[in-house]
Amino acid sequence: MKKKIAIFISGRGSNMVALLKNIQDGILKDLCQVELVFSNKPEAPGLKIANDYGVPTACIESKGMKREVFEQEVVDFLEDYNLDYIILAGYMRILSPVFISAYRNKIINIHPADSAEFRGVGAYEWAFENKKDFTKITVHFVDEGVDTGPVIGKQVVDLRGCKTLEEVEKVGLATEHAFYSEALRRVFSGEYKMEEGR
Ligand code: GRF
Repeated sequence: MKKKIAIFISGRGSNMVALLKNIQDGILKDLCQVELVFSNKPEAPGLKIANDYGVPTACIESKGMKREVFEQEVVDFLEDYNLDYIILAGYMRILSPVFISAYRNKIINIHPADSAEFRGVGAYEWAFENKKDFTKITVHFVDEGVDTGPVIGKQVVDLRGCKTLEEVEKVGLATEHAFYSEALRRVFSGEYKMEEGR
């Protein structure tokens, strides 16, 4: 059975595009189907791109709403979709227990650093400012902490030769785009066991 997933975005959605390509005709093809792309921001450019891919989209604006109220609304909205996984791809909201308890061990995130070394936003800036020769991309399950959940996989990014922050981001994103699908392939196929990441 293909896993039913929702991809959550807040912005441009380049990871979402990489996933959609691999779901349409790549390593995720027989493993999952996208029920919807969801955004908390109506202006997220990724929403239009998802439409162009023929994927249903939905948006509930989070701005001005209390976190728990917003998340309960999202949980209620998603109920009928019977999702197996929520895939965060540049979803710029910290999730509260309201959402996490509804989807325990079913929410996956990509974080552009080694989560043991750097957590939170600004990971590429951190790597650049600290003149890192290497950084890592982490794909992990989401728990109540910020980038603290069980790790599915980490991938090294070689930053030697990057002279600007833009170059760091470009090299890092290229790795993210390939690695996220590979990490999800391992989860959806049953190859990955949760105990590995604890
Ligand atoms: C990526 O760097 C991702 O790792 C982080 O937010 C960024 C989203 O970029 N969580 P995009 O919207 O996928 O292009």
